[in-house]
Amino acid sequence: MDREYHDYIEILPVALLDQNRKTVEALKALADSLGIGLGWHYLLDLSWILSHMDAWANLTILDAGAGTGLLQWYLAEQEAEVISVDRVNRAELPFRFRSRYRVRGLRPEDLASSSRLIAQNVSSAPTAAGRIKRLARSLGGAAATGLSPKPTGQVTIYNQDLTALVDIPDESVDVVVSVSALEHNPPEAMESVVQELMRVLKKGGLLLATLGAARDEDWYHVPSAGWCYTDATLRRVFSLEAGAASNYAEYDRLFGALAGCAELRDHLADFYFKSGDNGMPWGKWDPAYQSVGVCKVKRNNR
Ligand SMILES: C[S@@+](CC[C@H](N)C(=O)[O-])C[C@H]1O[C@@H](n2cnc3c(N)ncnc32)[C@H](O)[C@@H]1O
Repeated sequence: MDREYHDYIEILPVALLDQNRKTVEALKALADSLGIGLGWHYLLDLSWILSHMDAWANLTILDAGAGTGLLQWYLAEQEAEVISVDRVNRAELPFRFRSRYRVRGLRPEDLASSSRLIAQNVSSAPTAAGRIKRLARSLGGAAATGLSPKPTGQVTIYNQDLTALVDIPDESVDVVVSVSALEHNPPEAMESVVQELMRVLKKGGLLLATLGAARDEDWYHVPSAGWCYTDATLRRVFSLEAGAASNYAEYDRLFGALAGCAELRDHLADFYFKSGDNGMPWGKWDPAYQSVGVCKVKRNNR
């Protein structure tokens, strides 16, 4: 690790966008080329996480609750070795990721082979013309991204619950990152998730997680099926060191600035406008919560 790190909590200020402008633009471009619609606050979450390290090459990074989200692919572009964990099964990972990145399954069942997937996909087309079209689409995934050259980083898919990372040895990971994922666990389940993430982290390693923030008490945001946590809950479930810094005292000011952030408001991903079951129901800009980052350093005794 190239800097001195301490535990702290930071509600993510919109100033992160300008402070990390180069990274933000690179994230937007990669999301576009991979066809990934970003969560409404993800540019804040991603730029906050990425601001903690000057370089990611050759580090082993565990992305906790990765789904098919952007961070793992961005890190692979930076030559990191990513272990991508999610309880959702990604064995049939789409070709546009397979063709651009070195992906493998941690266990055979974690990732179906591309040849099996192509055969399955092609044979299910009702007509010969349809089969040829599907084959061309599968094989053409690499060109479709418009990116080059192929990055040297690797993404290892592991379909597993974060409370039971039984195939990952103790102290084998340099950094744990997590984008808007841990909040899908109720407060009472969070300690076992955090304990398991800390088990696999090397001493001196960093846990960098973004979650939903709550001002006065923990609450559940039904449309996004996610919890929002108070400063006190975050300190407890992450066992942060005594006196860890926090900007929760500025909750209202930061929330006001977020609600007025034109860059986030004017670039909502298409999927928000199609459903009410998400963090910004029906694409109506009206943030109900804000995002908070937790940085925790693995010390000898914790
Ligand atoms: C809102 S999505 C975010 C996905 C991704 N981080 C991104 O940037 O797009 C939350 C993800 O966290 C995963 N998740 C939450 N809790 C988990 C747990 N205990 N074990 C495994 N995955 C979990 C969910 O399955 C879901 O895919």
